[in-house]
Amino acid sequence: MFLQLISIAILSFSGIAAAIDLTLTQQLMLAPSRHARYELLKDEDFVFDFGKGPSSELVNGGYLVDATSETFPALVGQGVGMAVGILGPCGFNTPHVHVGGTEFNIALNGTFQTFLALEPPTTDSGAPPRVVNLTMNTLQATIFPQGSPHMEFNPSCETRAFVAAFGTDDFGRTQEFEALFSVPDDVLEDSLGDSSQSLAD
Ligand SMILES: *[C@@H]1O[C@H](CO)[C@@H](O)[C@H](O)[C@H]1NC(C)=O
Ligand SMILES: *[C@@H]1O[C@H](CO)[C@@H](O)[C@H](O)[C@H]1NC(C)=O
Repeated sequence: MFLQLISIAILSFSGIAAAIDLTLTQQLMLAPSRHARYELLKDEDFVFDFGKGPSSELVNGGYLVDATSETFPALVGQGVGMAVGILGPCGFNTPHVHVGGTEFNIALNGTFQTFLALEPPTTDSGAPPRVVNLTMNTLQATIFPQGSPHMEFNPSCETRAFVAAFGTDDFGRTQEFEALFSVPDDVLEDSLGDSSQSLAD
């Protein structure tokens, strides 16, 4: 009886799997070997075009184009990812973190101002972080360690580009201010030191 139930469960699972239209990324993730993955990819699937336009728009003039396993299925299993940032005049990629991995960022065609907040000691997590403030000239590169808040600013009046390489195909991006200001107002007020109004009010 138990075995019968299991085989019914397996049969209905494969029935469901067949009925679902799997994306190429999902098929690649299920493939049992590298060779099996290559069999699923046509020649043109090996091309990603960073010139195809934004994955996300920046609020302060510019956009990002992300190559991840979702936007570029051929990355599945390769352990790398990449983003290109286009910052317009005075464009600002506001403070954000990549939960998935460390960023290796190179200024492609002009100077950028970058800021990086390094993690404090675990014994004093409320200590002000060390901020690394750099002027990155053309072809200079820096790292933003995994999970560390950082930002890039284009101080010029021309459009400039940077390239960000990652050792993961799922680097992610969380904008710090959007995340912070999503919490309830009274939590924000207390966190910012307004002790006159407690959370219990
Ligand atoms: C960062 O460095 C630049 C260039 O040296 C300087 O103009 C700017 O004031 C610095 N910013 C901060 C917040 O330290
Ligand atoms: C830098 O490269 C980007 C992307 O190709 C381009 O849009 C921008 O005009 C370039 N800027 C300069 C100053 O060459």
